[in-house]
Amino acid sequence: MLQQDDLISLVSNFLQQIASAPSLQDLEKLKAELFGKKGFISVALAGLSKLPMEEKKSLGAVYNDYKNQLFQAMACRKDVLEEQSWQEKLAQQSIDVTLPAPYAPWGQMHPLTVVLKRAVEILVGMGFCVHTGPDVETPFHNFDALNVPLTHPARAPGDTFYIKGNLLRTHTSSVQIRVLQEKEPPLRVISFGSTYRRDECDATHTPMFHQMEMMVVEGGATMAHLKGCLFEFLSLFFQRPDLEMRLRPSFFPFTEPSAEVDVKLNGKWLELLGCGMIHPRVFTQCGKENLSGYAFGMGLERLAMLKYELSDIRDFYNNDQRWLGYFSEKN
Ligand code: PHE
Repeated sequence: MLQQDDLISLVSNFLQQIASAPSLQDLEKLKAELFGKKGFISVALAGLSKLPMEEKKSLGAVYNDYKNQLFQAMACRKDVLEEQSWQEKLAQQSIDVTLPAPYAPWGQMHPLTVVLKRAVEILVGMGFCVHTGPDVETPFHNFDALNVPLTHPARAPGDTFYIKGNLLRTHTSSVQIRVLQEKEPPLRVISFGSTYRRDECDATHTPMFHQMEMMVVEGGATMAHLKGCLFEFLSLFFQRPDLEMRLRPSFFPFTEPSAEVDVKLNGKWLELLGCGMIHPRVFTQCGKENLSGYAFGMGLERLAMLKYELSDIRDFYNNDQRWLGYFSEKN
């Protein structure tokens, strides 16, 4: 058994070692020396069992007190060392908050999407609903029901992409047919999407482009309503309340009368879209009688080119991010 004095000096020695332990590893070693199986405290406490009851009690209390002191000293030193090593780590990883952030490009909408969104927003605000149709159409929906006869050049394989008897739609007017077959008037619908024609690529043609179409079917609809609707839409789209617009007589098999619409931008008349009163034969083909309505359809690329004053349609598809970003932001 250790003498009381020896014990005191041993404990104070340990306390000193703990207080000056240079690292967490050193502290761990000390912990093993004190509290491990063969550690000083464990052995001392085990030694108590051989003593008589009275001594066991008094010494037990003393040992326990030392044990607690040592334990607390260890915990204190551990806190200090952990804090130190944390501070050292922080000092090594200094962050310069004044550096510019790493470059993270933002995605942006394609200019055609920007234009489409704007056009749809305006027309939805005027009470129109969006309807969609398939890109691969039946000749009935794309041609026959729209009063396009078998002899029409647009139906020739040289003008149209056929796929096993069906075809890639040449315009979004086929959606008019789908809506007329399914719904009852009054109708105010818009549709949009990709359209396809066997065109050579040049500054104003690509074999795939996009159209947007609108159709109104309601009792007593007249050409005047069509003109009013067109003006409302175009003046909002070009943000010109005083927009100059004119209708020129034209021909589409599915409208009668038909017209081309021009708008005056920067002092020049520019052709924009086709329109007309829906031909009675279109209604008949869809099983409807005695209806009146009007429609217009346009190329989204054309709309975007006029809005942004662009001259080459191919730029929309070259995927030059700088070009695309410029026109999206300009909106
Ligand atoms: N579908 C016609 C085209 O592709 C446009 C149009 C739509 C004309 C609706 C009149 C009415 O050119």
